[in-house]
Amino acid sequence: MTENISNVLRDRWLTRFGLIMAMSGNAVGLGNFIRFPGQAAEHGGGAFMVPYFIALLLMGVPLMWIEWTIGRYGGAWGHGSTPGMFHRLWHHPISKYIGIFGVMLPAVIGLYYIYIESWSLGYAWQSMTGAYWGSETQAEMGEVFRNYLGHGEGPVAFGRQAYLFFVITIVVNFFVFHRGISKGIEVLAKYGMPLLLIMGLVLAIRVLTLDTVEGRGVSDGLAQIWVVDWSALGSPAIWIAASGQVFFTLSLGFGMIHAYASYLTKDDDITLNGLATVSTNSFVEVILGSTVVVPAALIFFGMAGIEVITEEGIFAISFQTLPVIFQQLPGGQFFATVWFLLLFLAGLMSSVAMFVPLLSFLQDELDMDRNKALAGIFVAVFILMQPVILFSHRGIMDELDFWVATLLIVVFACAEVIIFAWIFGIDKGWETMHRGADFRVPRIFYYIMKYVTPVYALALLLWYTMDDEAGLIPVLTMQGVPEADRPILWLARLIIFGFMAFLIWGVWHAWRTHPKFFDDGDETAGETKEAETQ
Ligand code: ALA
Repeated sequence: MTENISNVLRDRWLTRFGLIMAMSGNAVGLGNFIRFPGQAAEHGGGAFMVPYFIALLLMGVPLMWIEWTIGRYGGAWGHGSTPGMFHRLWHHPISKYIGIFGVMLPAVIGLYYIYIESWSLGYAWQSMTGAYWGSETQAEMGEVFRNYLGHGEGPVAFGRQAYLFFVITIVVNFFVFHRGISKGIEVLAKYGMPLLLIMGLVLAIRVLTLDTVEGRGVSDGLAQIWVVDWSALGSPAIWIAASGQVFFTLSLGFGMIHAYASYLTKDDDITLNGLATVSTNSFVEVILGSTVVVPAALIFFGMAGIEVITEEGIFAISFQTLPVIFQQLPGGQFFATVWFLLLFLAGLMSSVAMFVPLLSFLQDELDMDRNKALAGIFVAVFILMQPVILFSHRGIMDELDFWVATLLIVVFACAEVIIFAWIFGIDKGWETMHRGADFRVPRIFYYIMKYVTPVYALALLLWYTMDDEAGLIPVLTMQGVPEADRPILWLARLIIFGFMAFLIWGVWHAWRTHPKFFDDGDETAGETKEAETQ
């Protein structure tokens, strides 16, 4: 009974265009414009693209289809988050506990993601008002950036403006989020994604029409990202980085795609829409993202500009190098403002997805009132973001990022592909995926999903576990971390454990108190259910 009520009350995507834009907005984010150019530049530019496209084909595309299928399947039972979805795929007591990762991961990622997103808004403001104009070298812009964030010698970091824009950003996020799927997220994406594409094109055209600087022209800039040095492919690091990027940029292994897909109806296509999501994301990342950032840095600063990315960290190119370049262009203030608004919009359309699984979990599984759940999430996120902001100069963001956005998303993806292809069964999975499909996926993907994707993901996981420079052991043992910063990193771990403990309790409680809702039914019940509902 509860199940049916839950289905009747569930929000829905109103239009196909809105759905594709929302899913693309979920995927397109800071990862496309900040993380991707950083990774590509660090790993040899053109050479990076080879393992990137291979990982896209063998993991990105299949996992996207798998996550849409799991989401639509679970959604038919009224489950908007992966604990319930996995329970429907695999009637084993452990499955719903594995599912908690799909609620915890995006929520914890959101804790630092929203803060970075707020920097973009702050810098859009600073660009518009010309606040940093005059700081014309990368070193000066580095100083501007540290001042903005309040990063000094003291134990805590506090920048007044950074804090103000954080507050504005979190309020904007929750404003969209509280309006729900069709009235909030779909509306934002319907206008936001086309706007983002236009802004990206404006910037790409600007870079493609740049004059030569000290003999370096556009073709040199593009060569940096498109000419492949095949010898670089021998290093495992490039394969690992490219695969990690594919996960992050497509929001795979997060639980966010499942949550959006749970609002599909049984006849909504998965195959073409899923492919459209991957294609839009790749277009934005590979064509727009990489046309702007890396070539601009190379033209103006030569290889030294590219090296800044590796030496000064992933944010340097967006918040230091590009602002210096914009100051040298006619109409630079306009282009700088567009760049930072583009980052903000991309970040916003992803971050509004990050708490959807948690909200669904509270509502669908814990029967919580929607407004109470929303208020609870807002307060929790606001409080938990305080240490992230105050200790942002002491490694807390990197620590969170390693656990949730590097290691655990791959752990979760491994688990889901095994549950889907091997436990639920690839035959049933394939059939479920094709219900309402606009095109039949080439049969080869049946085998890729069953064999290649899990092996590829497991190999990646193994590498993360074994690597003795940036892998599990050095991070776990805090190698090279100053004594004074260790408690901060423990705090990051506590946040992750705290979330997990709450969700473990939540699953235990939900399955104990609503036995009817979680009535197991037989193995084919999900498909029948999917066909019956709506
Ligand atoms: N997929 C999102 C991004 O790329 C999380 O930022």
